[in-house]
Amino acid sequence: MAASLTPALPMPSDNESLEEIESQALSDLGAVADGDALERWRVAYLGRRGRLTRVLRGLADLPLEERKRVGDKANRLKQELEGAVREKRARLAMSATEALIAERIDVTLPGPPLPSGRLHPTTQTLRDVLDCFVSMGFQVVEGPEIEWDRYNFEALRIPRDHPARDMWDTLWIDYEKDGERPMLLRTHTSPNQIRIMEQTQPPIRVVVPGKCYRYEATDPTHEWMMTQVEGLAVDEGISMADLKGTLAEFARRIFGPDRKVAFRCDYFPFVEPGMELRIDCFLCGGDGCRTCSRTGWIEILGAGMVHPEILEAVGYDSERYTGFAFGLGIERIAMLRHGIEDIRLFYANDLRFLSQF
Ligand code: DAH
Repeated sequence: MAASLTPALPMPSDNESLEEIESQALSDLGAVADGDALERWRVAYLGRRGRLTRVLRGLADLPLEERKRVGDKANRLKQELEGAVREKRARLAMSATEALIAERIDVTLPGPPLPSGRLHPTTQTLRDVLDCFVSMGFQVVEGPEIEWDRYNFEALRIPRDHPARDMWDTLWIDYEKDGERPMLLRTHTSPNQIRIMEQTQPPIRVVVPGKCYRYEATDPTHEWMMTQVEGLAVDEGISMADLKGTLAEFARRIFGPDRKVAFRCDYFPFVEPGMELRIDCFLCGGDGCRTCSRTGWIEILGAGMVHPEILEAVGYDSERYTGFAFGLGIERIAMLRHGIEDIRLFYANDLRFLSQF
């Protein structure tokens, strides 16, 4: 509404002389520096309630002779001011272009590159590892990070008060039931072996990626959170030859086709026999260096044949079915692949580290 507009310039008194209006209008116009100010000027002089418009409206009250004389003059002034607005508008547009040219803005220059994110090194290695097993016929499934004691330990033959629990320092959930704390942050992905076998029948070929948590002091090779991939295959006639073939193929795909693999006895309560997989050190070729602790071999993962008691406990006939399982740490594999010396770098969120991958 016009009434609510704040006039930028003083409104005229009715008997203002045309000469006054003209000289003030032209001097005001000289001070106008941009399009907005020009529009305010136009409204103040030529708008519906502008100074000149009022004079023109007031003509009707004048005697005939004077009406003609003043009317002529006022109309000429109106044309003059309208012409001045047009000219000023053109000049303002021109000076904007000139300003652009003066600043030498090259509109054809490509813009600065937008910073783009990338996959975390853990994610990159995880995807490579999963791709490898998927191509061998494994399916990817997932399980919960907050787990029951039953799945994380009991059903994996790690009973309460058994020293084997010391292998997994545990973060317990502060929730009590019947005087016990039955929930925890899973310490490994192995509980998914049980979850899957309870839900399906053989044949089973799955890999289960996920975060695991341990109540552990951190150092260059230990973190309180890490990523594991669990593998499980159960079927009729699965033997240790299948386990060895599958894991040797995995090691060669991730660490290079010339890798030698070796299996060594190890203990995990849920497999029998249990073993660890080692590859010959790809840095020193087996001569012994810092990465392989001068042994020529690097431990990659834990594995074994699924314990028959576990098969029976989930309702499988252990005379008919056998299986193998394995579990590996993705950060460890990424460290070996990229020569990363401290596992804590993965989750320290330092872009200088992360942007290298
Ligand atoms: N769950 C074990 C750990 O976190 C790794 C492991 C060892 C998984 C042997 C397995 C296995 O499936 O057979 O240390």
